[in-house]
Amino acid sequence: MTASPCAPPLPGPGAAHGRRARGAARALLTWYDAHRRDLPWRRAERARNPYCVWLAEVMLQQTRVAAAAGYYERFLARFPDLASLAEAREADVLALWSGLGYYRRARQLWRAARLVQVQSGGQLPSDYAVLRRLPGIGRYTAGAIASIAFQQPVAAVDGNVRRVMRRYLGREWALRRLETLIADWGRERPGDFNQALMDLGATICLPRSPRCPLCPWRAACRTRGEGETARPAAARRPLTERYALARRAGRIALVQRPAASARMAGLWELPRHRGRGRLLGRLRHAVTISDITAEVYAAHSPAGAIRWASPAECAALPLTGLARKILRRFADTPAARLPG
Ligand code: ADE
Repeated sequence: MTASPCAPPLPGPGAAHGRRARGAARALLTWYDAHRRDLPWRRAERARNPYCVWLAEVMLQQTRVAAAAGYYERFLARFPDLASLAEAREADVLALWSGLGYYRRARQLWRAARLVQVQSGGQLPSDYAVLRRLPGIGRYTAGAIASIAFQQPVAAVDGNVRRVMRRYLGREWALRRLETLIADWGRERPGDFNQALMDLGATICLPRSPRCPLCPWRAACRTRGEGETARPAAARRPLTERYALARRAGRIALVQRPAASARMAGLWELPRHRGRGRLLGRLRHAVTISDITAEVYAAHSPAGAIRWASPAECAALPLTGLARKILRRFADTPAARLPG
C-alpha cells in the first residue's frame, strides 16, 4: 500500500511517534500544572466526585465557564449529591436552571439521576460505554466524566479541543481518530490532560487571536494559528415580542409554555400582550437564534390560563430567562433577583 499524499505526517508509528507523544503530553501537563484555571468544579473534593464532575460538564455543554459557575454553586447547595437530585421534583430542578438555557439538559440530568439511583444505588458508572447509555450523556460528556472523575484513558473532544488539535496537527482529523490520539497522549493523567486541552483552547489557542508565544506547544505546532479564518457568528434574527405585566394583590400573572414547545417546554413566562396599553419599557434578550426586543406593557386582565404567582412562587417556579429579566427590571421579586 502506498502512503496517501494527504496522510498527516504527524504522528506516525514507531519510536519517534512515542517520543513526540510523550513530549507533547509532558509539555502540556507542565503548563497546566502552572497555569490551570481555578474553577469551582476543580476543587479537590469535587474533582474526584463523579456527580460534581457530571453536573459541571452538563452545564458547560452550551454555557461559558463564567456563566455556569454561579449556577453550579447554587445547584450543588440545593442538590449536593445524586440522591438528592433523584428525589427532587423536575420543576425544582428546572427552577434552579432558569436563565441558563437549553433546559433539555436539566431534564435529562434529572432523568439520568433517577435511573442511576434505581439501577445502581446512586453510583455513576465509570465506564465510558455505560455512561453513554444515560440520557444527555454523549461522547464528549462521557469522556469528560470517565477521564476526570475516574481517570479512564479516554478523550473529551469539544469544539475548542478540535480547534487546538487542528492547529497543532495542521489539519482536521476525523473525530474517532482524534479521540484515539488524545486518549493515547493523555493516558498517564487523562482527566488533567483533557482539561489542559480545554484550558489551552480557552486561554491561549483562542479562535481569533491565538497567543502563540505563551503556548507550551509552540515549537511543534504546525500552524501557529495561521490560516484560520474565524467564522463570524451567525447573525441572530431580530424579533419583537410583547409581554403583559399584570399584578393582583401582590401577585404576578404567569403562563406556562406548552409541554410540546420545541423550546423551553413547561417553563413559566409572562403572558403575551395584545392590543393597546401603557408601555413600561423595552429590553433586549438574545437566545440561540433570535435577538428579541421585549416590549413590556402594564395590564390588568391578561388573556390565557393565568397563574397568579406570589413572589415566593415566582422564586420557586422554573421561569424563562427572559421572564426573570423582565421581573428584575419591572417588578422586584425574589425570583428576579437571582442572576441569570
Ligand atoms: N469546559 C468543559 N468542561 C470543562 C472543564 N472541566 N474545565 C474547563 N472548561 C471546561
